[in-house]
Amino acid sequence: MKAVIDGTINLDFDDSAGAMGRLDKTSFMYWALNKPAYAQGHATRQLHIFNTLKYLYVKQVKTVEEFFGGVGMGTGIVQKLFQPESHVVYEVAEECLSHLRNQPFSDALDVRYGLAEDTMLNAPYADLYIVDMPSLNPMKLAGWMPQLDHLFGLGPTAIYLNDTSFWTRRFHKERFGKALNKPSLENTRDYVMAYSEYMFDRYGYIVWTCSIHIGASFLYVKSDKMYEPEIKSVKRDEAKMVMQIWS
Ligand SMILES: C[S@@+](CC[C@H](N)C(=O)[O-])C[C@H]1O[C@@H](n2cnc3c(N)ncnc32)[C@H](O)[C@@H]1O
Repeated sequence: MKAVIDGTINLDFDDSAGAMGRLDKTSFMYWALNKPAYAQGHATRQLHIFNTLKYLYVKQVKTVEEFFGGVGMGTGIVQKLFQPESHVVYEVAEECLSHLRNQPFSDALDVRYGLAEDTMLNAPYADLYIVDMPSLNPMKLAGWMPQLDHLFGLGPTAIYLNDTSFWTRRFHKERFGKALNKPSLENTRDYVMAYSEYMFDRYGYIVWTCSIHIGASFLYVKSDKMYEPEIKSVKRDEAKMVMQIWS
Protein backbone atom coordinates (compact mmCIF):
# COMPACT_ATOMS: atom_id res chain seq x y z
CA MET A 1 0.00 0.00 0.00
CA LYS A 2 1.12 3.53 -0.76
CA ALA A 3 -0.25 6.65 0.83
CA VAL A 4 0.23 10.32 0.03
CA ILE A 5 -0.68 12.79 2.76
CA ASP A 6 -1.36 16.46 2.03
CA GLY A 7 -0.30 16.05 -1.59
CA THR A 8 3.41 15.48 -1.05
CA ILE A 9 4.13 13.23 1.95
CA ASN A 10 4.77 9.73 0.62
CA LEU A 11 4.47 6.66 2.83
CA ASP A 12 5.30 3.20 1.48
CA PHE A 13 3.89 0.21 3.37
CA ASP A 14 5.15 -3.36 3.25
CA ASP A 15 1.77 -5.06 2.97
CA SER A 16 2.88 -8.21 1.15
CA ALA A 17 0.93 -11.30 2.18
CA GLY A 18 3.86 -12.43 4.35
CA ALA A 19 4.08 -9.14 6.21
CA MET A 20 0.33 -9.08 6.77
CA GLY A 21 0.39 -12.62 8.09
CA ARG A 22 3.14 -11.78 10.54
CA LEU A 23 1.35 -8.82 12.05
CA ASP A 24 -0.37 -8.98 15.38
CA LYS A 25 -3.98 -7.97 14.84
CA THR A 26 -3.78 -5.51 17.74
CA SER A 27 -0.78 -3.68 16.24
CA PHE A 28 -1.09 -0.15 14.90
CA MET A 29 0.43 -1.23 11.57
CA TYR A 30 -2.28 -3.89 11.14
CA TRP A 31 -4.90 -1.29 12.01
CA ALA A 32 -3.49 1.24 9.52
CA LEU A 33 -3.38 -1.35 6.71
CA ASN A 34 -6.82 -2.77 7.39
CA LYS A 35 -8.80 0.30 8.38
CA PRO A 36 -7.81 2.87 5.77
CA ALA A 37 -10.80 5.12 6.53
CA TYR A 38 -9.70 5.36 10.17
CA ALA A 39 -6.10 5.98 9.15
CA GLN A 40 -7.28 8.77 6.85
CA GLY A 41 -9.24 10.31 9.72
CA HIS A 42 -6.25 10.04 12.03
CA ALA A 43 -3.95 11.68 9.49
CA THR A 44 -6.46 14.49 8.97
CA ARG A 45 -6.74 15.17 12.70
CA GLN A 46 -2.97 15.53 12.88
CA LEU A 47 -2.89 17.75 9.79
CA HIS A 48 -5.52 20.06 11.33
CA ILE A 49 -3.49 20.38 14.52
CA PHE A 50 -0.09 20.90 12.93
CA ASN A 51 -1.41 23.35 10.32
CA THR A 52 -2.77 25.48 13.17
CA LEU A 53 0.54 25.20 15.01
CA LYS A 54 2.36 26.31 11.87
CA TYR A 55 0.05 29.29 11.53
CA LEU A 56 0.66 30.27 15.19
CA TYR A 57 4.32 29.46 15.72
CA VAL A 58 6.15 28.36 12.59
CA LYS A 59 9.43 29.95 13.70
CA GLN A 60 9.30 28.48 17.20
CA VAL A 61 9.29 24.82 16.19
CA LYS A 62 12.85 23.76 15.50
CA THR A 63 13.14 20.75 17.80
CA VAL A 64 10.62 17.91 18.10
CA GLU A 65 10.34 14.84 20.33
CA GLU A 66 7.66 12.32 19.30
CA PHE A 67 6.95 9.44 21.65
CA PHE A 68 4.56 7.18 19.70
CA GLY A 69 5.79 7.10 16.10
CA GLY A 70 3.23 4.66 14.67
CA VAL A 71 3.32 4.54 10.86
CA GLY A 72 4.72 8.05 10.47
CA MET A 73 1.63 9.99 9.41
CA GLY A 74 2.22 12.66 12.04
CA THR A 75 5.99 12.44 11.56
CA GLY A 76 5.66 13.14 7.84
CA ILE A 77 3.30 16.08 8.41
CA VAL A 78 5.61 17.69 10.97
CA GLN A 79 8.63 17.12 8.74
CA LYS A 80 6.89 18.82 5.83
CA LEU A 81 5.44 21.78 7.74
CA PHE A 82 8.37 22.64 10.01
CA GLN A 83 11.50 20.94 8.64
CA PRO A 84 12.82 20.80 12.22
CA GLU A 85 16.55 20.88 12.92
CA SER A 86 16.11 17.84 15.12
CA HIS A 87 13.21 15.40 15.35
CA VAL A 88 13.47 12.27 17.47
CA VAL A 89 10.77 9.61 17.02
CA TYR A 90 10.35 6.73 19.45
CA GLU A 91 8.43 3.50 18.90
CA VAL A 92 8.36 0.02 20.36
CA ALA A 93 6.76 -2.09 17.62
CA GLU A 94 9.35 -3.71 15.28
CA GLU A 95 7.20 -3.31 12.16
CA CYS A 96 6.66 0.40 12.86
CA LEU A 97 10.34 0.99 13.60
CA SER A 98 11.48 -0.58 10.32
CA HIS A 99 8.68 1.17 8.39
CA LEU A 100 9.65 4.57 9.89
CA ARG A 101 13.32 3.98 9.00
CA ASN A 102 12.40 3.11 5.40
CA GLN A 103 10.45 6.29 4.62
CA PRO A 104 11.98 9.15 2.62
CA PHE A 105 12.12 11.47 5.61
CA SER A 106 14.91 13.99 6.18
CA ASP A 107 18.31 12.95 7.55
CA ALA A 108 17.52 15.07 10.61
CA LEU A 109 14.94 12.45 11.64
CA ASP A 110 16.23 10.09 14.30
CA VAL A 111 14.09 6.94 14.77
CA ARG A 112 14.74 5.10 18.03
CA TYR A 113 13.33 2.26 20.06
CA GLY A 114 11.92 3.68 23.30
CA LEU A 115 9.18 3.01 25.82
CA ALA A 116 7.17 6.19 26.26
CA GLU A 117 6.94 5.61 29.99
CA ASP A 118 10.72 6.26 30.06
CA THR A 119 11.34 8.52 27.07
CA MET A 120 8.67 11.02 28.15
CA LEU A 121 9.93 11.04 31.71
CA ASN A 122 13.53 11.66 30.63
CA ALA A 123 12.91 13.87 27.59
CA PRO A 124 15.15 16.88 27.01
CA TYR A 125 13.58 20.24 26.16
CA ALA A 126 11.99 20.38 22.71
CA ASP A 127 9.82 23.06 21.10
CA LEU A 128 7.15 20.49 20.27
CA TYR A 129 6.23 17.23 22.01
CA ILE A 130 3.97 14.83 20.13
CA VAL A 131 2.14 12.44 22.43
CA ASP A 132 -0.17 10.32 20.24
CA MET A 133 -0.97 7.49 22.62
CA PRO A 134 -2.56 4.16 21.60
CA SER A 135 -5.04 4.54 24.46
CA LEU A 136 -5.83 7.64 26.49
CA ASN A 137 -8.88 9.20 28.10
CA PRO A 138 -9.49 11.45 31.12
CA MET A 139 -9.37 8.51 33.54
CA LYS A 140 -6.05 7.27 32.17
CA LEU A 141 -4.40 10.68 32.51
CA ALA A 142 -3.55 9.97 36.14
CA GLY A 143 -1.31 7.04 35.13
CA TRP A 144 0.77 9.34 32.90
CA MET A 145 0.98 12.28 35.31
CA PRO A 146 4.74 12.02 36.08
CA GLN A 147 5.49 12.02 32.35
CA LEU A 148 3.07 14.88 31.58
CA ASP A 149 4.33 16.91 34.55
CA HIS A 150 7.84 16.56 33.15
CA LEU A 151 6.95 17.58 29.56
CA PHE A 152 4.71 20.53 30.42
CA GLY A 153 7.21 21.56 33.12
CA LEU A 154 9.92 22.04 30.48
CA GLY A 155 7.84 24.85 28.95
CA PRO A 156 7.65 23.80 25.27
CA THR A 157 6.03 25.96 22.60
CA ALA A 158 3.34 23.31 22.14
CA ILE A 159 2.24 19.81 23.03
CA TYR A 160 0.09 17.53 20.88
CA LEU A 161 -1.98 15.14 22.98
CA ASN A 162 -4.83 12.85 21.97
CA ASP A 163 -7.87 11.12 23.46
CA THR A 164 -8.75 7.74 22.00
CA SER A 165 -12.06 7.40 23.90
CA PHE A 166 -13.62 10.61 22.65
CA TRP A 167 -16.31 8.69 20.75
CA THR A 168 -17.53 7.08 24.02
CA ARG A 169 -18.02 10.41 25.80
CA ARG A 170 -21.81 10.14 25.86
CA PHE A 171 -21.59 6.93 27.92
CA HIS A 172 -19.12 8.25 30.51
CA LYS A 173 -20.22 11.82 31.15
CA GLU A 174 -19.80 11.60 34.92
CA ARG A 175 -16.76 9.30 35.04
CA PHE A 176 -14.77 11.35 32.53
CA GLY A 177 -16.08 14.56 34.14
CA LYS A 178 -14.89 13.50 37.59
CA ALA A 179 -11.40 12.79 36.24
CA LEU A 180 -11.27 16.36 34.91
CA ASN A 181 -12.74 17.92 38.08
CA LYS A 182 -16.22 18.51 36.59
CA PRO A 183 -19.52 16.99 37.68
CA SER A 184 -20.46 15.91 34.17
CA LEU A 185 -19.48 16.51 30.53
CA GLU A 186 -22.71 17.06 28.64
CA ASN A 187 -21.44 17.83 25.15
CA THR A 188 -18.33 18.12 23.01
CA ARG A 189 -17.58 21.68 24.11
CA ASP A 190 -17.83 20.70 27.79
CA TYR A 191 -15.37 17.89 27.15
CA VAL A 192 -12.82 20.05 25.36
CA MET A 193 -13.21 22.92 27.85
CA ALA A 194 -12.76 20.52 30.75
CA TYR A 195 -9.42 19.34 29.33
CA SER A 196 -8.40 22.93 28.66
CA GLU A 197 -9.26 24.13 32.17
CA TYR A 198 -7.62 21.10 33.76
CA MET A 199 -4.33 21.67 31.91
CA PHE A 200 -4.53 25.44 32.47
CA ASP A 201 -4.90 24.98 36.23
CA ARG A 202 -2.12 22.41 36.40
CA TYR A 203 0.39 23.75 33.87
CA GLY A 204 -0.72 27.10 32.42
CA TYR A 205 -1.45 25.51 28.99
CA ILE A 206 -4.80 25.57 27.19
CA VAL A 207 -6.37 23.69 24.30
CA TRP A 208 -6.03 26.11 21.41
CA THR A 209 -7.58 23.82 18.84
CA CYS A 210 -8.83 20.26 18.64
CA SER A 211 -9.80 17.94 15.83
CA ILE A 212 -12.26 15.09 16.17
CA HIS A 213 -12.66 11.85 14.24
CA ILE A 214 -13.64 8.97 16.54
CA GLY A 215 -10.75 10.00 18.78
CA ALA A 216 -9.65 13.56 19.30
CA SER A 217 -6.36 15.43 18.92
CA PHE A 218 -5.53 18.51 20.97
CA LEU A 219 -3.01 21.31 20.56
CA TYR A 220 -1.89 22.73 23.90
CA VAL A 221 -0.12 26.09 24.02
CA LYS A 222 1.00 28.31 26.89
CA SER A 223 -1.46 31.00 27.87
CA ASP A 224 -2.04 33.49 30.66
CA LYS A 225 -5.81 33.13 30.40
CA MET A 226 -8.53 30.84 29.07
CA TYR A 227 -9.73 31.18 25.47
CA GLU A 228 -12.57 29.40 23.72
CA PRO A 229 -10.96 26.46 21.88
CA GLU A 230 -11.51 25.90 18.19
CA ILE A 231 -13.28 22.55 17.60
CA LYS A 232 -12.93 20.91 14.18
CA SER A 233 -14.56 17.72 12.94
CA VAL A 234 -13.00 15.57 10.28
CA LYS A 235 -15.30 15.05 7.29
CA ARG A 236 -15.13 11.80 5.33
CA ASP A 237 -14.52 13.48 1.95
CA GLU A 238 -11.84 15.71 3.36
CA ALA A 239 -10.05 12.75 4.98
CA LYS A 240 -10.01 10.88 1.63
CA MET A 241 -8.37 13.88 0.01
CA VAL A 242 -5.87 14.46 2.82
CA MET A 243 -4.59 10.87 2.75
CA GLN A 244 -4.84 9.24 -0.63
CA ILE A 245 -4.31 5.49 -0.61
CA TRP A 246 -3.36 3.06 -3.35
CA SER A 247 -3.29 -0.70 -2.80
C1 LIG B 1 -1.77 6.00 17.85
S1 LIG B 1 -0.31 5.27 17.30
C2 LIG B 1 0.66 6.65 16.77
C3 LIG B 1 0.27 7.09 15.39
C4 LIG B 1 1.22 8.08 14.76
N1 LIG B 1 1.03 9.40 15.30
C5 LIG B 1 1.05 8.12 13.26
O1 LIG B 1 0.68 9.18 12.73
O2 LIG B 1 1.28 7.10 12.59
C6 LIG B 1 0.47 4.73 18.76
C7 LIG B 1 1.79 3.99 18.56
O3 LIG B 1 2.40 3.86 19.83
C8 LIG B 1 3.12 2.64 19.89
N2 LIG B 1 3.23 2.31 21.32
C9 LIG B 1 2.35 1.63 22.10
N3 LIG B 1 2.77 1.61 23.38
C10 LIG B 1 3.94 2.31 23.41
C11 LIG B 1 4.85 2.66 24.45
N4 LIG B 1 4.64 2.27 25.71
N5 LIG B 1 5.93 3.39 24.13
C12 LIG B 1 6.17 3.78 22.84
N6 LIG B 1 5.34 3.49 21.81
C13 LIG B 1 4.24 2.76 22.10
C14 LIG B 1 2.28 1.67 19.09
O4 LIG B 1 3.10 0.64 18.55
C15 LIG B 1 1.67 2.59 18.01
O5 LIG B 1 2.42 2.51 16.84
